[in-house]
Amino acid sequence: MTLRVLAGGRGGTRPGLLVTGATEIVTMAGGVRRGPAQDEAAVLRGGRPTLAVYDGRVLAVGSYEEVQRRLAAEGFTSEQATGEQATSERATGERAAQDRRFTVLDAKGGTVTPGLIDPHTHLLFAGTREAELRLRQRGAGYLEILAAGGGILATVARTRAASDEALAAHGRRWLDQMLAHGVTTVEAKSGYGLDGPTGLRLLQVAARLGTEGPVEVVPTYLGAHAVPAEYRDRPDGTEAYLRVVIRDHLPGVAAQGLARFCDVFCEAGVFDADQSRRLLLEARRLGLEPRLHADELEPSGGAELAAELGAASADHLAAPSREGVAALARAAGSDAPVVATVLPATSLVLLKEGGAPARTFIDRGIPLALGTDFNPGTAPTANLPLVMSLGVLRLGLTPTEALAAVTINAAQALHLAATHGSLEPGKQADVVVWDVPSHELIPYWLGADLVRSVVKRGQVVLART
Ligand code: NIG
Ligand code: FE
Repeated sequence: MTLRVLAGGRGGTRPGLLVTGATEIVTMAGGVRRGPAQDEAAVLRGGRPTLAVYDGRVLAVGSYEEVQRRLAAEGFTSEQATGEQATSERATGERAAQDRRFTVLDAKGGTVTPGLIDPHTHLLFAGTREAELRLRQRGAGYLEILAAGGGILATVARTRAASDEALAAHGRRWLDQMLAHGVTTVEAKSGYGLDGPTGLRLLQVAARLGTEGPVEVVPTYLGAHAVPAEYRDRPDGTEAYLRVVIRDHLPGVAAQGLARFCDVFCEAGVFDADQSRRLLLEARRLGLEPRLHADELEPSGGAELAAELGAASADHLAAPSREGVAALARAAGSDAPVVATVLPATSLVLLKEGGAPARTFIDRGIPLALGTDFNPGTAPTANLPLVMSLGVLRLGLTPTEALAAVTINAAQALHLAATHGSLEPGKQADVVVWDVPSHELIPYWLGADLVRSVVKRGQVVLART
């Protein structure tokens, strides 16, 4: 079996798509998931669940009969309007297709879900860092490797030297992998420039890849990912670099107009909470919403700061303080809650036994998302379903909670929940057909290739043949 990425999508001449033959359609209708609701996926089973898409948006989803009625009401099925009863799902498709506006996609007994959303990636970089794994196996710490000029700094040197074309080729390679795992939208951070020009280049390439499609890319500016080599010898290096980021780099990023968010590595020994606050407040003043790498290695005030600022998301949270969790819980009730985006592949690669207290987050009503953290140091994986498996096996999530974490809650983490992350009329038609009859089997088949078809904005952009 091979996967074909279809440039520009298939069925481009027809604005409609009818997905039939699914055992289960997971709609994720009902908004961002918190507390017990994170375990509710709004699943349609029985009555031949059917999804109708038109002009890139969901037109109707429901039982075969409900969708038929809706199509008739919209004037799509003339037979239905005269009262003729459908006899099979194939007939549904054929009737809708008769007016030449619909292509039929047969799910062949599989599961249909919203397109997955990866809310935390460091998509663009050059080079690999496999040697660090050996160092960690011998006991070296993550920040110790960084302090010795390795880690993020090694990738920064390689990335600065890479051409735009090389970065774009790398980005396309890994976006294709993400798509093959059912991902239709990714966030992409610019964390390996750490100077003005490279930061702008990374954002430019990320935005270009999103325009090329089919995967949608949400660029995030991450100038404060580490203190670059040229500032590290100075006693005030962190402060000096932060001032340059705030005063010189940020205005250029805002003027470029591509980044939607500003991120910072808020961690003891990197940028502390006060420094992170200064940066994120200035970013917000310039139109970039805050998100944070928070408490990845030890409690550093990151969760507290995310709650204080009403950040889109607090990410990692492998070691939040008790106060930090309480602050996120207080923020969780609002219309714009701070999403806890946890990254279990990172804990695994850092050889940590545990991970973020995901169950506590859910029990405290904090909306939970999962991301790959795709990067060359701590998360060399583009496989979001595998991360769902880690969420289930290592963090105690149910399969349904894990799916909510990579659909509607990941959409919320990117402030896209009004348009993405669920299959509801009017929302963007990003859809995955899986080769299993229930969504519970997606994290169950560890590391498997289960994606049969992917639809982006109503177009079939990937098909397994
Ligand atoms: O999310 N912790 C900061 N950033 C990344 C790792 C980046 C790297 O090691 O290259 C993370 O884990
Ligand atoms: Fe990260």
